[in-house]
Amino acid sequence: MWFFNKMCTSKARLDGKTVVITGASSGIGKETARDLYARGARVILACRNIEKTNEAIDDIKNNPPSWITKDEYENNVGELAIYLLDLCSLKSVRDCAKSLLTNEAAIHILINNAGVAAYPYKITEDGIEATLQVNYLGHFLLTLLLLPKMQSSSPSCRIVNLASFLYTLANINFDDINMKRSYSPFLRYTQTKLANILFTKELARRLKEANIHGINVYSLHPGVIATEITRYSDSTVSCIAPFFFNTCAHLFGKNVIQGTQTTIYCSIDEGIANQTGLYYSNCGVSNTYRKANDRQYADKLWNVSCRLLDLEPEENFTTFLETVSRQML
Ligand SMILES: NC(=O)c1ccc[n+]([C@@H]2O[C@H](COP(=O)([O-])OP(=O)(O)OC[C@H]3O[C@@H](n4cnc5c(N)ncnc54)[C@H](OP(=O)(O)O)[C@@H]3O)[C@@H](O)[C@H]2O)c1
Repeated sequence: MWFFNKMCTSKARLDGKTVVITGASSGIGKETARDLYARGARVILACRNIEKTNEAIDDIKNNPPSWITKDEYENNVGELAIYLLDLCSLKSVRDCAKSLLTNEAAIHILINNAGVAAYPYKITEDGIEATLQVNYLGHFLLTLLLLPKMQSSSPSCRIVNLASFLYTLANINFDDINMKRSYSPFLRYTQTKLANILFTKELARRLKEANIHGINVYSLHPGVIATEITRYSDSTVSCIAPFFFNTCAHLFGKNVIQGTQTTIYCSIDEGIANQTGLYYSNCGVSNTYRKANDRQYADKLWNVSCRLLDLEPEENFTTFLETVSRQML
């Protein structure tokens, strides 16, 4: 349905810009990497599976997006690089951040894309339920660690958080943050996607309050797309769940290129360069509902996230960032 499939029309080039994309070995992340590479960016694929990511890089290099000729693609692209990042391990998040801070002169765009859905119950080596850590808490920490580098790379820096419209179904039980008492893979996913939106709003608010300008934060729903996101659902939901989801996605959803457009839009579109803290869908701003509009809830999530990371949430955001870097790197 064309009216649900708006494309990003920006012609922006990203020569000289560095973009970090988590989970770019497949799906939306990989297609986003292809598009931004074609626009001249140095694109860093922050991924856990190096072999799979090397295959993704070969595919990106050999297959240009449809809007660019093969000739232009051969002569006018950026660079591709891989950094190891396993969001299931906070040590891996810290190591990845350390390498990025050491090796990269600047980071202009951070796309927190990696995610799992319908994941079996698992507690990570850090004592945190795995879906929460991969989809949200690992990105929370990575973002805080990269913020000083982005500050020195600003203006015009952007942080883009992949959420989902399923956030509308979520309530987070802060008293049982690891869902020890009753785990639902589906509800856990919705909670992490709500967390992505609350984090976006709260980070934008804290940056503004601290007078840190030139870094805008966006969250988005990409659409319903047949990707590898269903890979765990046959064991946790039903063996027909991936088939059912993919059929619905093919009939009523978007293909991967269409499903990448809102991420690209939030990352580069000039028309939203002055917006921050908002939620987007189908290449436009979208209203948020229920808990996503609750400022106290966002504040509570921030404090609980700090507690999970053994960080003291301080009043002064600049001091807080210094503490995070000191304690976490
Ligand atoms: N597809 C949809 O309909 C849809 C709808 C709404 C929102 N989203 C969101 O869009 C984002 C991208 O999903 P997708 O549909 O493109 O799914 P996908 O094809 O399964 O891609 C997910 C990516 O995340 C990576 N990842 C998973 N666990 C990781 C970990 N522990 N550390 C580092 N990377 C990890 C995967 O790496 P491996 O290949 O190594 O596993 C993969 O590169 C997710 O945040 C998802 O919630 C998707």
